[in-house]
Amino acid sequence: MNDPNSKKDKLVIAIDGPAAAGKGTLARRIAQHYGLRFLDTGALYRAVALAMLQQGLDPDDAEAAAQMARNLDITLLEDPALRELTTGEAASKVARHPSVRAALLDFQRCFAANAPTGAVLDGRDIGTVVLPEADVKLFITASAEVRARRRWLELGGEASGVPFEEVLQQVLERDARDAERSTAPMKPAADAHLLDTTELDIDAAFQAARRIIDARLNS
Ligand code: DC
Repeated sequence: MNDPNSKKDKLVIAIDGPAAAGKGTLARRIAQHYGLRFLDTGALYRAVALAMLQQGLDPDDAEAAAQMARNLDITLLEDPALRELTTGEAASKVARHPSVRAALLDFQRCFAANAPTGAVLDGRDIGTVVLPEADVKLFITASAEVRARRRWLELGGEASGVPFEEVLQQVLERDARDAERSTAPMKPAADAHLLDTTELDIDAAFQAARRIIDARLNS
């Protein structure tokens, strides 16, 4: 019989938010701290996009993108080109196609369901669509300027030869595309905790997230 007072044996955490808000770093840290599996769902959309680019296909081609998502080549998840700005931009385009999202949905849900102690998934629609029953939902934000600066520094800053303004422009375009699409747009779930990291470094962001998760675990 189920004891209503017993602690849950699995912990599922959904982390959403715009590009370069620090979701990935935070999600990895949370997964490590609580002993959970981690899935970067943006990498799945990036892998579909990279396969399209490598084969000279147009990311706006819904049929070709869906085909690619159904037969996802998971070796692409290890490809360094996955992290390039052009791949991120193409990922945001393929992610608009409902057929692509549908093809990747089961994989994400199965990942969470099969994780022995639970999982942390980060993306744009985890709390709203992929795992609406998640135990804890976080929506991570930061100002566009701060997010663009972090992304630009990751690329190598001045030494990268990429102007900061170009990165900022891409961040703004990506935000608009991800938030305005009709299927599973990026938005906080009604029961998500908002965490603004504009003024927080990764340690402070992690401590803030930990307080939210621990409060839920002890409730
Ligand atoms: O988090 P990221 O930058 O790696 O994501 C790349 C793109 O993939 C992002 O611009 C939108 C899309 N994406 C999505 O639509 N849904 C998700 N759950 C994760 C990513």
